[in-house]
Order: sequence, then C-alpha cells, then structure tokens
Amino acid sequence: MCKIPDIKDQIPLLGIAHKFLNVELKDYIKIMFEVFDVNIPIQKTWFALKLAIVPNTPEQFKTIFTSPYCINKPTVIYDGFFSKYGIISTNGEVQDKHRKILSNSMTPTILNQLNPIFNEKIKNFVKKISEKVEKSEFNIYNYVAACTLEALMKGQFQHDHDCYGSEVIEAFENSKEIMMRRIVQPWMSFKPFFNISKLAKDAKKVFNPIHKKVNEIINVNQHLKIHKDQKVGVLISQLLNFKNEFSEEEIRDEIFIWIFGGYETTALTLSTCLLMLAMHKKVQQKVIEEIENSKFDERFDITNEETQNFPYIESVLKETMRLFPVAPIILRETTAEIELEGHKIPKDTILVLPIYLVQRNKDIWGDDAENFNPERFEDKKNQ
Ligand code: HEM
Repeated sequence: MCKIPDIKDQIPLLGIAHKFLNVELKDYIKIMFEVFDVNIPIQKTWFALKLAIVPNTPEQFKTIFTSPYCINKPTVIYDGFFSKYGIISTNGEVQDKHRKILSNSMTPTILNQLNPIFNEKIKNFVKKISEKVEKSEFNIYNYVAACTLEALMKGQFQHDHDCYGSEVIEAFENSKEIMMRRIVQPWMSFKPFFNISKLAKDAKKVFNPIHKKVNEIINVNQHLKIHKDQKVGVLISQLLNFKNEFSEEEIRDEIFIWIFGGYETTALTLSTCLLMLAMHKKVQQKVIEEIENSKFDERFDITNEETQNFPYIESVLKETMRLFPVAPIILRETTAEIELEGHKIPKDTILVLPIYLVQRNKDIWGDDAENFNPERFEDKKNQ
C-alpha cells in the first residue's frame, strides 16, 4: 500500500480539500484534475479521514465495476446529493429493493410509450429557440435544460410544468453549487458541522421550491392504482403503487434524485454537443446530411426504432460524452480487500475513478485524444 504514490499537493487525512476553499464552482473540476498525474496508473490520497485510491487505467476500472466488493458508494461523499435513500446514493438492501422495482420504469416498452411526450417537448423547444436565433446571444443550456426537465416531469412523473424560466429549474441549477461544496469540503460530511453551517441554511432556502414540487407531484398522483398483474409503469406509478415497500422519505428522495439525475445529465450532454457542432462545421454538415437522407422530417415524430438509423449522430454523441463526461469522476467504496495493479487495497477504502482522464488518455485514444473527432467511433474497435 505504502508503495502507491501520493497525489501531489495533498495534506494528510484531508487530501486536497484545502484547494477548494474560496474557489468558484466552475473551477472545481480543473483543480481536481490538476493534482492527478495522468502518467501514474495508481495514486493515493485522503478524503474525510479515509484512505482514497485513484486508479487510472481501464483494466482497473473493469476490476472495480465487476467486483462484488466495490458496489457501495461512499456515503461521506454521496450524502452531498441530499438524497439519502435515492438509488444513486443509497447502498445495500435499500438499493437492491429500489433497483428491482424502479428499473421497470426504464424498459424499452415504457420508453417507447414516452416517445410522443419527447416529441412534443422537442417541438416546443424548437419553437422557443426559433424565436431567439439570429437576434441576440443567449445561453442555449437554459432552453435545453427546460426541455429535458419538462420531458422527464411529464414522462416519468405525469406532471405538467412549464420549465422555461421556472423557479424550480433555477433551484435545481443553484443546488449544484451547494452539492459540490458539501462534497469537496469533507468536514461538511460530519452532520454536526454541516447542520450549523451557512451551507445548511443556504441549502434549505435553495431546495425549498424543489421540495414543494416533489410534494405536488406526490399529491397529484396519489390516486394512482395499478392493476394487480401490472408490474411495470413509469417511475411515479412504481413508487406509489409499491408504497408498502417504500417509506415516505424514500419516495421523496427518489423523486428528487431521478429528476436531478435525469434532466441535468441529458441537458449538459446535449448542449455541449450543440456547442461542438457549432465549432466543427464539417461534423455539423455530416449531421445535417444524415438527417436529410433519412425519412425523418420536420414533424419531429420519431420512434425509438427510427433513432437507430442515425449512426453518425450516435458517434457525435459518444464523442461528446467521451470528451465531456457529465460524471467526470465516479466513486465507490470497498467492502472487502481487493487487488489493483498488484497492490492490496483494504476494506473501507474510497475508490476515485477519474473517468475524464481515462477518456482523454493518449495511450488509449491516440495522439488526437483531445480533439473532437466523432469518426473515431466509426472504427469497430472503438465502438
Ligand atoms: C446523457 C445522459 C446521462 C448520463 C451521461 C448519465 C450518467 C450516469 C452515470 C455516470 C451514472 C453512474 C453514477 C455512479 O455510479 O456514481 C448514472 C446512474 C444513474 N442514472 Fe444516469 N445518466 C444519464 C441520463 C439519465 C436519465 C435520463 C435518467 C433517468 C431518467 C438517469 C438515471 C440514472 C439512475 C437511476 C442511476 C443509478 C443507477 C443505479 O445505481 O442503479 N440517468 N448515470
């Protein structure tokens, strides 16, 4: 263990937490990746008094993602999502139960049923954008985010909400800073510190419109009744029809984390993809040609099956997610000793997987690893 090199600029037990003091949210990721050395396959540091290991190769990622001892998420960090019982942050039996019931809301059949909603929301988005283009500068992320949030609210929660300029979307956007601050300042993971902090007060204020919205979603859908044999439905019906399985807090936490995890990820990916298209005119032209050569027309009524007919657009999306992964770091915690790169990693160690670095590693992707080049995904070996 002691042979594993330390990441640079860290202090014992606190790791690199000191580097985030008085830093803006937009600089967090830059700071994190400055301390990792891309050329070292495995490094160590500390987080909230716990040992943390940073594996930096796809082989180690594979070992971790397939190990039964690396399933848990480190609660000291995932508590920062303010969703104790949500599927993304919870562990053990609660997570197993939630996965079993809730994965039924994402089956291909359910997603196909949601297509008319996606199409309707995209038409509305195009209408809103058309009123803006070629007039003055505007931030397209706000429009994409409103579109993905509306689609999610209507699709998985049967809830109509105009998200363009709504205080709910503003609250979700502000909550990102609160979440990140709680995560990168490990002392905030100790409840007594957090509870008396300014961050806790800010969190209460920021999350208020979201909690109100979650209550409204539950109240509006209270009457849901599923047929006895019907084991699948959109998320809200799964949550409310299997009410005996979930506590009230579990239901609230799930609604919160699915909305957040569902709209923000897609909005960031899609708006970054639009930015890449604007910056790479040749790629943009190929995308336009693929659309023009397909049967898809301006009605925007596309089925799940038809989405398979756009291989180039698929490569463009993959390349966007390679260079700009919405989860640039993923974390796990060991529940037994494991072996990585010939080192024995003890139980209760935090594993910090730097997805962003591996997806830009020149040894894996070639010398043009930093370039936006969707064509690389046309090569079978990269698919
Ligand atoms: C571009 C879009 C998306 C990206 C890049 C993305 C990325 C991810 C990543 C990296 C994780 C693993 C997080 C971790 O283990 O720490 C994850 C988990 C999850 N995501 Fe997404 N996501 C996207 C869209 C969505 C959408 C639209 C939904 C729901 C409507 C969703 C729901 C979930 C759920 C429920 C989990 C937890 C799964 C489990 O642990 O069983 N995601 N996502």
